[in-house]
Amino acid sequence: MRAGVSTPTWGYNGAILGPTVRARRGDTVRMEVTNSLPDMTTTHWHGMHLPARADGGPHQPIEPGTTWTPEWQIDQQAATLWYHPHPHGFTGPQIYRGLAGLFILDDDGSDAAQLPEQYGVDDIPLIIQDRRFNPDGTLDETDRPDIGLLGDTTIVNGITDPQFAATTRRVRFRILNGATMRMFNLRFSDGRGFHLVGSDGGLLNEPTPVHNVYLSPGERVEIVVDLAVADTVTLQAVKFPDNLEVDNSDAPDFGLDDQFDLLVITGPGQGSDPAALPNGLNPTLLALPDTTGARTRTFDMEWFQINGKRMDMTRIDEVVDHDNWEVWIVANKDNWLHNFHVHDTQFRVLSLTDTSTTPLTDGWKDTILLAPGAVATLAVRFTGYTDPRWPYMFHCHMTYHEDQGMMGQFVVVKPGQQPDPQIGSGLDRHQYTTETLARTAPVTTPALHPHRPCPVPTITAAGTERLGA
Ligand code: C2O
Ligand code: CU
Ligand code: CU
Repeated sequence: MRAGVSTPTWGYNGAILGPTVRARRGDTVRMEVTNSLPDMTTTHWHGMHLPARADGGPHQPIEPGTTWTPEWQIDQQAATLWYHPHPHGFTGPQIYRGLAGLFILDDDGSDAAQLPEQYGVDDIPLIIQDRRFNPDGTLDETDRPDIGLLGDTTIVNGITDPQFAATTRRVRFRILNGATMRMFNLRFSDGRGFHLVGSDGGLLNEPTPVHNVYLSPGERVEIVVDLAVADTVTLQAVKFPDNLEVDNSDAPDFGLDDQFDLLVITGPGQGSDPAALPNGLNPTLLALPDTTGARTRTFDMEWFQINGKRMDMTRIDEVVDHDNWEVWIVANKDNWLHNFHVHDTQFRVLSLTDTSTTPLTDGWKDTILLAPGAVATLAVRFTGYTDPRWPYMFHCHMTYHEDQGMMGQFVVVKPGQQPDPQIGSGLDRHQYTTETLARTAPVTTPALHPHRPCPVPTITAAGTERLGA
């Protein structure tokens, strides 16, 4: 961005991004979301365990000028979650325009963990995103073939070329990949080691020493890094050495060769060496769930489809009994990248096969990166809330794929209960802009990967939306 040029953006309670919301396990939260935008939006609480009607997915539209007030009780462990829009077909552009914020949860375990915890001092949120700018400063919202909104400029917490002057020798960063399509391979400019201490759904049990970490759109990681007195080091996004197993010739199209300086960090002028990091941060990680006899479901991701279907807001794809562990086998059948996100829950990764790419798979997760051909076996459970009427979503969180229909819906019911969806397509009721309708038009053959067949399904635009039940 050039100095003196301004960029129109969207935000929550401000020009871009939104306030960090913070709550504690056991708290009842009531959010009031007023839509002052010209377009319909929704506000989804990503990673949150909550009733489906409060989830903020495509079936909880907030029309311009109206207010939505979901309420739920926080019933999960401490974690770094986030919130963002989820209107079907338009999630990517709304995030890209600036709508995203963090939602941090605390509990007794996170209080007891000896980790940096002074928000804004040694506990620092980093929302990492990419954008493209037009010469006049406005956001370039042109979708590129297959990869949608992939930017050439990174912003951290909404600004370009940010700097952080640390006042302590040890800093915890809570990092969100808030990009629509870009993968980040994060490291420090001098190659220094650091520790992973948290994944999407909570703290890891033991800090894991690493030199880099992969983060796909929607994923979070909490890291701890130590600084020397008068240190200067840069948090960078660097080229993926393995191209995430994407064909070398295609890697530049996905931005896998790109490198960015994300954040310049300076150390304090003084301070003693930090103590050893604590172990035993999160005992919930010690054993994988027992999934003997568990119901198994498969999710094949290919083109903009899951199990051969594109998202249809009037169709329920899976009906899940609450409280039972299930095994979800998710396969990336493409020769390009996807990830897989599930609403309402945090899962464990039982295995990740047919890939040598090792993304963040330990710990509680709600989103997992899948290299071409990779198969993830997940232990998933939905507790507490049942609702035969309102669905949750599972989808690729690369938002261009999601907006094109790489998403499905499930309801969580009591044993034997029948689903009773009374849900519309979303397209009949809302004043979508022409651009939105263009984005949800049938897929044309993408320019990349011509050897893959590309089915051309159509979107159903019929249905009745009944809200406020
Ligand atoms: Cu972060 Cu269904 O979304
Ligand atoms: Cu979500
Ligand atoms: Cu995808």
